[in-house]
Amino acid sequence: MTDQLYDPSLGLQALAHVEDLAALEDWRVAYLGRKSELMQAFGALGQVAADKRRETGQLLNEAKRQLEQAYEARKDAMSRAALTAQLERERVDVTLPGRPLPRGHAHPITQVIQQISDLFRSMGFQIIEGPEVEWEHYNFTMLGIPADHPARDETDTFWLTDKMLLRTHTSPVQVRSLLHVGQPPIRVLVPGRVYRNEATDASHEAVFFQMEGLMVDDRTTMSDMMGMLSYMARGVFGQERKTRFGCDQGFPFVEPGAQMSIDCGVCQGAGCRVCSYSGWLEILGCGMVHPDVLRGVNIDPDRYTGWAFGLGVERIAMLKHGIDDIRLFQGNDLRFLRQVG
Ligand code: DAH
Repeated sequence: MTDQLYDPSLGLQALAHVEDLAALEDWRVAYLGRKSELMQAFGALGQVAADKRRETGQLLNEAKRQLEQAYEARKDAMSRAALTAQLERERVDVTLPGRPLPRGHAHPITQVIQQISDLFRSMGFQIIEGPEVEWEHYNFTMLGIPADHPARDETDTFWLTDKMLLRTHTSPVQVRSLLHVGQPPIRVLVPGRVYRNEATDASHEAVFFQMEGLMVDDRTTMSDMMGMLSYMARGVFGQERKTRFGCDQGFPFVEPGAQMSIDCGVCQGAGCRVCSYSGWLEILGCGMVHPDVLRGVNIDPDRYTGWAFGLGVERIAMLKHGIDDIRLFQGNDLRFLRQVG
């Protein structure tokens, strides 16, 4: 190609058909690479007749400039097109409504505990907790339940040693809190887990929650108890609820012992399956703290009086939400948990 002029138009035409980056690189190698015709022509400049050499060199340089410029322009256009395509793909429509984030809520048992805690806190009660592993002494003996008392048979107990057990109720925290403060006044509310060694069914679990309430003060009376418990019941079940108190001899640490019922919210007291056709639902046990319990913690029962109550949190939640199986609470089924919110 000594005197034949190099023609860049072939390369420029080929470039017009290049569609992607790989093909573009192939093109660069073919038309501008070391072994390309153009570079070989540069290499052969020495063999061009001396009087034509300068002109040929200029022409080759011009061809090279054209090819390089076309190459850069093509590369630019291709990367701009790629960017545009990417932006198009990733386009965000900021006018679309946002996707709602799933929002959780407290477990239904926690909700009941929080609600009842708030109600009693508003009446000057402190919320405290006690140990789940408890001494027999606090769980039974100091609550008027000696070793041979029939109440010990009723509650089948998980024993850890012959003196230590998983508490069967939150009542031992009555004793602990009285020992802790020394002398009245005291107002405490005690939520927590309790354990019973019994078979599970729709209304029994071996592990469940109770809340214990205790007030000891100068001459606090049963009507204080009835008023505060009724206030709590209306806060939880609705302001229109009626409450009723009846005798209950079941618990030796209260004298007199009582139980509180609310009028059935399903039938409004007329009688239905939920309330066993009585119109009333029993929701807790309560009573005046037995003088022996006070004596046991060195409080003079002639000077101070007290009252206490204990309720099953699951039972309250079941009545509140119309749940018919206690096992649902520990079942971890999100369909259930989402419904009860
Ligand atoms: N501790 C009782 C139980 O386990 C409930 C109870 C009844 C607690 C009467 C009390 C009370 O404080 O006064 O079932």
